[in-house]
Amino acid sequence: MLSRLTDPPPPWVGGVSDAHPLALCGSSMHSSLATVKPTEEEQKQQRSVLQGFRQNKVPLSASNFGLYLSQISVAPSLLFETFKMKFDNKTLDTEMDFIVATDKEFGEVIAMSKGIYGGLDYLPSRYHSWLKDANRMVILARKDGKVIALESVCIIDDGETMLVEGLRVAPSERGKGVAGILQKYCIQLVKEKYPNVKIIRLTRDDKLGPKDFRKYRLITKQGILLVRFNVKELRSRMDDIVHMLEEAGSELCPTVILEREEVKNIILSMTVSNKLLPSKTIIQDWQPFKPIESNLNLLLKKDLHWIVDNKQCPNFASLCTFPFRIPIGDDWFYLNIDMFGKDLAHIKSHLIAHLHNHTQNGHGNIMCQIFMEPSLWEDMAYFCKHVICVEIAKGYTEQYLLESDLHP
Ligand SMILES: CC(C)(COP(=O)(O)OP(=O)(O)OC[C@H]1O[C@@H](n2cnc3c(N)ncnc32)[C@H](O)[C@@H]1OP(=O)(O)O)[C@@H](O)C(=O)NCCC(=O)NCCS
Repeated sequence: MLSRLTDPPPPWVGGVSDAHPLALCGSSMHSSLATVKPTEEEQKQQRSVLQGFRQNKVPLSASNFGLYLSQISVAPSLLFETFKMKFDNKTLDTEMDFIVATDKEFGEVIAMSKGIYGGLDYLPSRYHSWLKDANRMVILARKDGKVIALESVCIIDDGETMLVEGLRVAPSERGKGVAGILQKYCIQLVKEKYPNVKIIRLTRDDKLGPKDFRKYRLITKQGILLVRFNVKELRSRMDDIVHMLEEAGSELCPTVILEREEVKNIILSMTVSNKLLPSKTIIQDWQPFKPIESNLNLLLKKDLHWIVDNKQCPNFASLCTFPFRIPIGDDWFYLNIDMFGKDLAHIKSHLIAHLHNHTQNGHGNIMCQIFMEPSLWEDMAYFCKHVICVEIAKGYTEQYLLESDLHP
């Protein structure tokens, strides 16, 4: 049996890449917001609230914040104003301002993120595509003009859920309440821009405490198995592994890669949704999606491999995210595989199929996260270590899907 270690947390995420940036600020926004100019009276009211914030006279309540946000939406340059932030009677001993992230801040975001997740940060690979997502905003907090925190919010589930991702605070600013304030700021932005959002969702893998459970409901959890290998080296052994499994009589179950046009019907079928998905959720590389058509449209824009054992009545399904670079080293990639189902023979076969696909070409080293039904973890760790002969990079950890209501 493998020991359970406690290591720094791995990343959560993904990225839906699509067209235009969210109209909030920055050059692209000026034109789109020019049409919502308020009346002079409204502008006067907004200015006085703004003035109050600046002089620290007006508490930053949700309703005042709403006014503040509407001010942002008519005068983007004001987003760069600096405020003394006050929330819940807690005053931050610093002054922060918030901006919508652009490509320009990439360097600062990367500098601030150095060392996050032990070098396995997904954000450097996702940042630029996140900025282009139509259903996403990436917000930065700055102090003295320097980026000190980031949070991204993605609107999914037919516009009813805000998915919170990417949260991070510069090491020197942690423990001061910055993340809390940034989270509240993003919630207010979402309330303003997406009034239909009812639910906040996020995935985490850090240890949850009583405070977290007061704040969130636990929707589901998956076990995470992290293994690493060199692509060329595994490629040279792949045929032998399959041969050896056949020789040993442990027949591999069938696996079929789905064509794009087949994915919707099969994954949205009652069999997959009700029987295989954990709490009826497609979790793709840390992003939880309800099995509904609009989400499948988002997922189909991504480079994913969907596999089932049988198209008519699947007993097991899995999806694999195309490898992307991670900062741990020059030639390192993340390969993330989400497994749906409880059968050991099937999960082993799906793993072999995905590894076979992704080692046929390519080079470098892979960190492979395999998300699965927790009870399968130990057998799969044994299989990876002793049959596929890849290195187990981390002991048992869990991916939690959390949810809370977004109160009006
Ligand atoms: C986790 C981190 C963002 C916290 O930043 P911070 O400014 O020190 O945190 P704060 O002092 O504002 O307090 C933490 C708040 O964030 C929340 N929080 C802590 N970890 C969180 C997480 N992983 N995901 C979402 N919220 C989290 C807490 O519940 C708390 O909320 P509250 O104000 O409603 O009580 C920071 O330590 C960090 O950047 N760590 C490295 C990156 C990381 O692990 N990010 C989390 C991704 S899962």
